[in-house]
Amino acid sequence: MTTTVPSLAVNFADPDILQDPYPVFDAIREAGPVVYNPTANSWMVASYDGVRSVLFDDEHFVPESDKWETLYGGSVVESLQEPRHGEIRSILAPMFRAGYLREMRPVITDLISGRLDCIAARLRSGETIDIVPELTRAVAGRVLAHVIGVGEEDVPRFLAWAKDMGATLESYDEPDPARSAKLRRIGTEATKLTCAFAGEQLARRRGDTEARDLVAQFVRSPVTETMSEQDQQATIAQVIVAGHDNITHTLGHVFVALALRPDQRRLLDADRDLIPGAVEEILRWRTSATGDTRVLQGSATIGGVELEEGSRVMLLLGAANRDPERWENPGQLDLLRPAQPHLTFGSGVHTCIGAGLGRLEARLMMSEVLDRLPEFTFADPRIDYGAPLFMRGPRAIRIRA
Ligand code: HEM
Repeated sequence: MTTTVPSLAVNFADPDILQDPYPVFDAIREAGPVVYNPTANSWMVASYDGVRSVLFDDEHFVPESDKWETLYGGSVVESLQEPRHGEIRSILAPMFRAGYLREMRPVITDLISGRLDCIAARLRSGETIDIVPELTRAVAGRVLAHVIGVGEEDVPRFLAWAKDMGATLESYDEPDPARSAKLRRIGTEATKLTCAFAGEQLARRRGDTEARDLVAQFVRSPVTETMSEQDQQATIAQVIVAGHDNITHTLGHVFVALALRPDQRRLLDADRDLIPGAVEEILRWRTSATGDTRVLQGSATIGGVELEEGSRVMLLLGAANRDPERWENPGQLDLLRPAQPHLTFGSGVHTCIGAGLGRLEARLMMSEVLDRLPEFTFADPRIDYGAPLFMRGPRAIRIRA
């Protein structure tokens, strides 16, 4: 490390940072193009251009495979490099193409509108409701069950395991070794249960030549035969985790944003063509996957700073999405802001495969809320964002009519 490189000790498990990471993100971005963090023994990148260029350089900046393999119980798309990454990604890709998303549209609309009608009736009778368990998590889980091809009755248990698997990610941010080990144990146990569940689904569907869901496509693909049983299970486990937490958070952010901007809510209601742009602004403003990591293979520079082989690089997507070089007044939520590309879904070869599904769910949620809950407000404006920082979202959102 050269002495000219700025250093900032940041504990990403600090409750104040978990609650509001943006002041620290600004400080890191202002400190330099790359900033050493002794607490996490990592190099942090917080500017839009810096994060994007590292994501695109997949020859040098490779996934932190150990972390993903611990989290998911085997190697998965997110832990792999080319060409293997592309082969495995091709098995999942058909489930996320435009044609499939068109078929999903009425399914998602029905799921949202059915639940919102009940919620609206209860709000009218004077109840306050936490929409995270009652709506956002429930919708995300049921859509995912549909995509994967498992029954609705399985949703509560896979959601519970997926939540506990988040403890593994938390353990990487936790500087206290005893607490980190405890989090790792909770996460590992949940990973075993999720992989066992994935294994049951795979076994049940072998020989299925008809169904179009993810597990059926997966068992039919010739590429699957080149994977170990453990990696097959881990790949399904990854879709379960990646596919519901980030969406639950994003759907929650739709409510937070509409509650914070009643003035713009009316304009969106009057002109529904503004919804896609508003969703992009929400994704930018409250990035759910706040950060990502890579490990340097060989040697490379970031912002003119040469890093050593094996350096761990933290890419602060949430900070990049508020880079004042790219967005005017970036901390301001402006649902009418002209959309321009952000990094909420990453970039480069590992760009989120579920981005289209995430966007679709958020747009449909906004449209249905404008129809069915036009006047809702926060019953409690204090939102707890909880841990882990790199999968950040509201734990509860209590609303009233
Ligand atoms: C709003 C919702 C979502 C957000 C914010 C999000 C965010 C991300 C991000 C930032 C990455 C890149 C990770 C990296 O570079 O290492 C990623 C990758 C991934 N996401 Fe998502 N995601 C969302 C929804 C989904 C959904 C619905 C699914 C599946 C049902 C999904 C499955 C995946 C997979 C499989 C990858 C790995 C892709 C690869 O390595 O090639 N995500 N996601």
